[in-house]
Amino acid sequence: MNKQKIFFSLGVSFALLCGSETAMASVPDSAYVFSYCSGKNDGKNGLHFAWSVDQNFWNEIGPEYSYVKSDYGTWGREKRMVSPFLYRDEASSRWHCVWSVNERDNTFAYATSTNLVDWKPQSYPYLEVNSCVLNPVVSKDGDTFKISYIDNDNKHYAVQTKDFREYNNNKAATSAEYKNNTVEVELGGNKYKGQIHRVEWAVVDKLIKTKEHKEYRNRLHDERCEQDPVRFSNMGDIKASLKLNRENSKPISDMLIGAFFEDINYAADGGLYAELVQNRGFEYDPSDRKGDQNWNSKHSWHLIGEGTQFEISQENPIHENNKNYAVLKVSAPGAKLENHGFDGILVKKGEKYDFSAFGKTLDGKTGKYTVRLVNGAGDVLAETSVSVGKEWKKQNAVLKSNADARDAKLQIQPAAAGEFAFDMVSLFPQNTFKGRKNGLRQDLAQIIADMKPRFVRFPGGCVAHGDGLHNIYDWKKTIGKLEERTPARNLWGYHQSMGLGYYEYFLFCEDMGAEPLPVLAAGVCCQNSSDQGAGQQGGIPMCQMGDYIQDVLDLIEWANGDAKTTKWGKVRAELGHPKPFGLKYIGIGNEDLISDVFEERFVMINKAVKEKYPEIQVVGTAGPFYEGSDYEEGWRVAVENKVDLVDEHYYVSPGWFIYNQDYYDKYDRNRCKVYLGEYASHLPGRQRTLETALSEALYLTSIERNGDVVTMTSYAPLLAKDRFTQWNPDLIYFNNHEVRPTVGYYVQKLYGVHSGDNYIYGNLNVHNHRDDVRKRVASSVVTDSKTGDMIVKLVNMLPVGVETDLDLGDMTGYSKEAVLSLLSGNPADSVLQPVDSSIEVSDKFTYKLPAYSFSVIRINKEVGKKK
Ligand code: AHR
Repeated sequence: MNKQKIFFSLGVSFALLCGSETAMASVPDSAYVFSYCSGKNDGKNGLHFAWSVDQNFWNEIGPEYSYVKSDYGTWGREKRMVSPFLYRDEASSRWHCVWSVNERDNTFAYATSTNLVDWKPQSYPYLEVNSCVLNPVVSKDGDTFKISYIDNDNKHYAVQTKDFREYNNNKAATSAEYKNNTVEVELGGNKYKGQIHRVEWAVVDKLIKTKEHKEYRNRLHDERCEQDPVRFSNMGDIKASLKLNRENSKPISDMLIGAFFEDINYAADGGLYAELVQNRGFEYDPSDRKGDQNWNSKHSWHLIGEGTQFEISQENPIHENNKNYAVLKVSAPGAKLENHGFDGILVKKGEKYDFSAFGKTLDGKTGKYTVRLVNGAGDVLAETSVSVGKEWKKQNAVLKSNADARDAKLQIQPAAAGEFAFDMVSLFPQNTFKGRKNGLRQDLAQIIADMKPRFVRFPGGCVAHGDGLHNIYDWKKTIGKLEERTPARNLWGYHQSMGLGYYEYFLFCEDMGAEPLPVLAAGVCCQNSSDQGAGQQGGIPMCQMGDYIQDVLDLIEWANGDAKTTKWGKVRAELGHPKPFGLKYIGIGNEDLISDVFEERFVMINKAVKEKYPEIQVVGTAGPFYEGSDYEEGWRVAVENKVDLVDEHYYVSPGWFIYNQDYYDKYDRNRCKVYLGEYASHLPGRQRTLETALSEALYLTSIERNGDVVTMTSYAPLLAKDRFTQWNPDLIYFNNHEVRPTVGYYVQKLYGVHSGDNYIYGNLNVHNHRDDVRKRVASSVVTDSKTGDMIVKLVNMLPVGVETDLDLGDMTGYSKEAVLSLLSGNPADSVLQPVDSSIEVSDKFTYKLPAYSFSVIRINKEVGKKK
């Protein structure tokens, strides 16, 4: 038996490598498969298989290889598969698998497959009759399936379905009705419970080949530069040639590089949004950051001194959306209310800061208070006095700092005894991006603008579809007066003031010359939700979908409607922007589970948008991976509904990028276009280095080649604040006083600045027979119709130089001196910048790609000469 297994494994590997089937004359017609969950990793390893010809000797396919994993609930404590039950419906030749998701919730998971390898997206039907579903089993009577189960008290129940979509007749059952054919099988010294089915050998064969193919791919994807000294030992510089076929070119998207802004890692409040006061509205709430009792309405505020009480009140607030405010009850003046900002307040000598606050007295008198900036040592940096009356009123003042400080604090000090109320206490640098009020941090906004993003996707990611239905991002609550906006919990574990809201996002796009790409939930919240419900994707109730769709349509009218004749165009004009924003794209959904609940709602929204605004390009979604059930189903939904673009996401290893440069070469040109909305190269430990950056640069050459089907791309996530980072790697790291672009940032910038709209086919021939060598060198040549320039991009992920003969064809009309931007170094380097130099070019010239490098050669069209 062992011999047979070894022979078989070798046979499969050979078949995989050669792409042909080996003869399998000796295999049986059928065999047994045993399906089980090992329970390891708390059940998160999912469904496994073993096979046998006689039920005496079992071959594990794995071990621990997962054919389907539970996708129920939030990351961490959920995603468990407990006691899976596999049922084969002979009538439909379909497999049905059900399992318990935990020991608590009144639901079970269901997934179906025709071949045990490809599984449809899961569903989790809620049941009414009991508190939890344990050990569910499936049986069939006529055309009706019955799912029988027990609860924590060992009571039996059952529910019926014909299609595993609609369930009915959920009621108590007898133990006799519980048809459980689960058996115990010993595998590798452990006993597991599961079901045995006799299947055609082809089923077993596919299970084995799938696992071996995956392992083979994983080995490639795990290749890393640190192994290069062994992988490429004794290898010297190699040669290559690139011959352009100038007659053979195609138009490509001129907006390939964009930015994806999500309020993650303190990217908005405390980040891009220039507000310096943290918790200015006293709206922080313990529910923002579950389990942290210090996260409350007084967060970031301290009372310094005696004779004053600091309380939070909700009586007669400035606005119902902003219910909390601070009350200082002063019996003896002298104490001050102090805010330490987001990790300190940064002020610069000689710069001006706009202070504002809503204040009033509560004791019927008028009064004054001092506003002061102090540094960590308590030295006064700026100070002014402000009057306050008996009604809520906004006070404004300008503070000019007399020194630099990174640890400044803002103080408010009532001048006399009395009762004072404060809310929306704010401090902005006057020096914001493009000088806008309520604006963006100059240095951070500028570095994003420097990438020349053609579009900005906002406000998320997961932030867009939210943690629970109540947390779905609502654009209407983020525009208008700051004190009337509705703050919200940020699902990354903090608070969104919404000071950076839809109006500011649109202005930012306009200021950078980028297209806005707002993403709205597809009527469902995140499938990994932890908040409310039992923790899964929920759909907005159908009776509320009309209102939700109207909100989506209103957004388009708000962005593009006439300032005088449309309701929402008027709202935009009143905010200060009578001219329409010219919105062209709208995202519906974010890497959602493509369930029936999703599909029904997505189709409704897409249809409504296209009916009213056929010119708007709708961006659909295809799950969080580059393959799998959500990817397949997301694409099916998109194609069936003729969606304009599909948003794909994948966070993968450098090796994945190296070995999947043909990913889009395979895409059908006549279907939906692609927006690669989130991607990044990840190393173990999640560092960001030249290696990850080069793998992205390598892959982007294939994106340019496929710029006729891929319309847009955006690296994710964009920003991360030191000490407040929930996700690594990111493109740009920052703290209050510095901005640190990663090496990957410079790859994005080089592609953004040196983009084109016409791709020139070329033949890159790496003079080496090894696939792993050839896959590590890539090129892309584009021309830019605006400037007439030609741009040659060359990536080398090898530890040796690649001496490349370039044949660019007739270069009459082009300058002979080009600009070379070169990014190169040690693959483990995490701080690097491209270096510019000039380089001689001609119709034919030789350029040596340095080891581990990305070279961009920009050849200017000579002014006055034809291309
Ligand atoms: O980019 C970070 C997160 O990754 C996004 O919020 C989400 O869409 C994806 O899972």
